[in-house]
Amino acid sequence: MLQIDLDMQHIKQYVEQHKQRFLDELFELLRFPSVSADPKYKADVLTTAEYVAQKLRDAGADKVEVCATAGYPIVYGEKIADPAKPTVLVYGHYDVQPADPLELWKTPPFEPTIRDGKIYARGACDDKGQFYMHVKAFELMMQNGGLPCNIKFMIEGEEEVGSSNLAIFVKANKERLKADVVLISDTSMISMEDPSLETGLRGLSYMEVEVTGPNRDLHSGVYGGAVANPATILAKMIASMHDENNHITIPGFYNDVVDLTPAERKALNEAPYDEEEYKKDLDVKELWGEKGYTTLERTGTRPTLEVNGIWGGYTGEGAKTVLPSKASAKISMRLVPNQDWEKISEMFADHVKKIAPASVKVKVTTHHGGAPAVTPTDSVAYKAAQKAIAESFGKDPIPTRGGGSIPIVALFEAELGIKTVLMGFGLDSDALHSPNEKYDIYNYYKGIETIPLFHKYFAELSSK
Ligand code: BES
Ligand code: MN
Ligand code: MN
Repeated sequence: MLQIDLDMQHIKQYVEQHKQRFLDELFELLRFPSVSADPKYKADVLTTAEYVAQKLRDAGADKVEVCATAGYPIVYGEKIADPAKPTVLVYGHYDVQPADPLELWKTPPFEPTIRDGKIYARGACDDKGQFYMHVKAFELMMQNGGLPCNIKFMIEGEEEVGSSNLAIFVKANKERLKADVVLISDTSMISMEDPSLETGLRGLSYMEVEVTGPNRDLHSGVYGGAVANPATILAKMIASMHDENNHITIPGFYNDVVDLTPAERKALNEAPYDEEEYKKDLDVKELWGEKGYTTLERTGTRPTLEVNGIWGGYTGEGAKTVLPSKASAKISMRLVPNQDWEKISEMFADHVKKIAPASVKVKVTTHHGGAPAVTPTDSVAYKAAQKAIAESFGKDPIPTRGGGSIPIVALFEAELGIKTVLMGFGLDSDALHSPNEKYDIYNYYKGIETIPLFHKYFAELSSK
């Protein structure tokens, strides 16, 4: 049996000694523009996978492999300390969202810069800064007496584009991925003063609609008034998808939604939330949403429909009088437990075709989707996370429901029967997917300190 020195004092000492290198390594990782959505960055995404693999090897992982898929590779590595011990499967993603609009970044997205104790870079929080904490926590444990649990890493490169090749990998590698819990840091906390653990994620159905009117762009004076403008028609169709109470009007959309019990709603609304602060941060006078629900319910437990992008006609400098031939929109729906994204995608497509007037043609395509998930709050792993956070933050974590999606969570449960703990250290204000994404250096180190405690308590509580 190894002597394991994972008490707070040893952990803090190790982080203090190595903190500059921990930061330098993260900076190196952040400099790779691993944008999975844009083929222009293909070589960079592949180099990033190799870098991650090398860092896992350096930290002491065995069987490190950059596993090819039909898309970007999955980086795998493991350290089996003792087959009798429980195993933690760490999941994260090394790909990032596109950085545009570039002109809104104060410093370039792939040149990480510290301002006011925060690291500004694309991927700083989502998810490079967060998954890299696990690599460094792993190093820390290896250098301080060994692992309390076995550990497996699976870091993918297509999370931001729907993880479609991951399902195939998981199905083909069930034995290799066997574990007792999946541990993910890719979500947010309420704040560093109010630590929290997310206990659910929404699902997603991502669609695109193209509306075609006349067979070519037309002079808007010569033809305007006589021919349906596809941009106007598209705007009307989109506007009709919410009623006066901001309910979604697609027939059957809410059929499978399971309503929360009054007790669940009450518990959810006990989380700290300051509406004035929220509005101030976003510079909006009034919030908007489905009638009858609070903001925390709207973002955590209710399905939504959002336009992510809309275009058509002339969008360049100055003015051009034109009646466009085509208009398009990218529309996504966030889904909640029991909604099936494939069913919803079909419903959406049928509905759009049904409401389109005869003056236009519509084409609807499905981009990708993912299932919603809820994670247990009575498991050994959840208790280990609670205990780890309570110790490192000096305060019990509050359970919350996250609005974002990580499709792999439902997949791990369906394919491997493994539940997840969402131990995220980000903040909603970290500007994920936005210009000037950041991650506080404080959160980065705090994560590295908390993760070994999770492993320690998971091993302890599992053996009871
Ligand atoms: N890390 C996010 C998801 C997230 C963020 C969950 C904050 C909870 C709180 C993840 O990288 C992400 O952005 N997922 C996508 C889904 C994917 C299918 C494109 C999302 O939620 O839009
Ligand atoms: Mn993420
Ligand atoms: Mn993301």
